[in-house]
Amino acid sequence: MYPLTIGLVIETKELWDEVHSTLQELSVRIVIEQHELGDLAEFLGRVERLRPEVMILEVLKLREPMEHVVARIKAGSMDPMVIALHNTGEPELILRALRAGAHEFLHPPLKANLQQALERKSLEQKKTREHLRQKGKVLGFLSAKGGCGATTIACHTAAELGRQGMRVLLADMDFEAGMIRFLMKTKSPYSVLDALNHLHRLDQSYWNALISNGLPGLEIIASPEALPSKQQPNQEQMQHILTFCRGQYDLSIVDLGRGLSLTTMNALDEIDETYLITTLDVPALHRSKQIIQALSSLGYGRERLRLVLNRMPQRLDITPDELENMMSLPVFATLPNDYPSLYEAYSKGSLLAANSRLSKELNSMAIKVAGIQKEKSEKKRFFTLRLRDQTNAH
Ligand SMILES: Nc1ncnc2c1ncn2[C@@H]1O[C@H](COP(=O)(O)OP(=O)(O)OP(=O)(O)O)[C@@H](O)[C@H]1O
Ligand SMILES: [Mg+2]
Repeated sequence: MYPLTIGLVIETKELWDEVHSTLQELSVRIVIEQHELGDLAEFLGRVERLRPEVMILEVLKLREPMEHVVARIKAGSMDPMVIALHNTGEPELILRALRAGAHEFLHPPLKANLQQALERKSLEQKKTREHLRQKGKVLGFLSAKGGCGATTIACHTAAELGRQGMRVLLADMDFEAGMIRFLMKTKSPYSVLDALNHLHRLDQSYWNALISNGLPGLEIIASPEALPSKQQPNQEQMQHILTFCRGQYDLSIVDLGRGLSLTTMNALDEIDETYLITTLDVPALHRSKQIIQALSSLGYGRERLRLVLNRMPQRLDITPDELENMMSLPVFATLPNDYPSLYEAYSKGSLLAANSRLSKELNSMAIKVAGIQKEKSEKKRFFTLRLRDQTNAH
């Protein structure tokens, strides 16, 4: 069952107990739980913030007319499924509740009917989610430890795929040290935080006011200018914003910063593939291994993880096979060390010039990211040759 978020407003003890014992057996998370509605405006604010997908309301215990309350709940951005509860099944009341817009009217014994209603909603949410998934891909770029090159690679990959004709978003979700605003010279003063704080009005036109553009096919949303940001998005907010992005772009490239931050953990469900960027120094490799293990133990399948070796040194103390064995993950791409070209580009306020070797390698990696896959054995041979070339060249 696709896990649902639930809000409860139930005063009568018997109904409260029965609902709780039913929910205990289902895959749900209760985000609002109160005996009384209290102030309606405050309550609606809570619904906007906590975004329950299902609202279970004991209808006759409300201080305001049921019609008014239900209509206001449904008018919010979440438009949850409303289940009206009462301890009797008076036909007139059922009619009133359904006319008011409630999706279900339940009375004891609740268990079987409540279970069925929630399973229906869960299936519906799952289908919507799958439909949205078909729309675009969300790719995370994660630095194994600070400074491995995740931001550099995310920016170049996004720019190249935009140039290739895809509709691409570059989103800076590094709330601690976001650099995309600076590197890509974005003009918009807004950030991901503005989107997060206005999820209830997040639509195409609001989004257009937040993003920057300038390069073909590429739109950018920066992280907050003030660092580190005091606000970190929670899982629901991450899910909401990334689902929105998925619907708007062929590819959303998300800079997740370094290590497994809370933001990254909250985003994981919506990240189809994570590109783990590491250098070959021992601390970075150690951290990479930890991240790979932590992600697999959280159920993030290894097939969704791509290992990228950046700033390849001229001389290697480890063979490719040893490295892949050590990480229990194949190497997706390797990128040469070319600090002077990057330094020159960034000093001019631009991305790498097309003729540098690093730029060429970044572009072929971008093509591969977009789905043009080399055959596996060929990839391995290519990798081995590259390493051999580099070792011989020294
Ligand atoms: N292939 C490369 N060759 C040489 N220098 C590189 C390469 N990739 C990145 N760099 C340099 O390494 C530094 C760190 O890069 P970047 O900011 O992209 O890393 P990051 O992983 O995003 O770091 P942070 O942890 O701060 O977010 C920058 O100065 C960048 O120019
Ligand atoms: Mg970075």
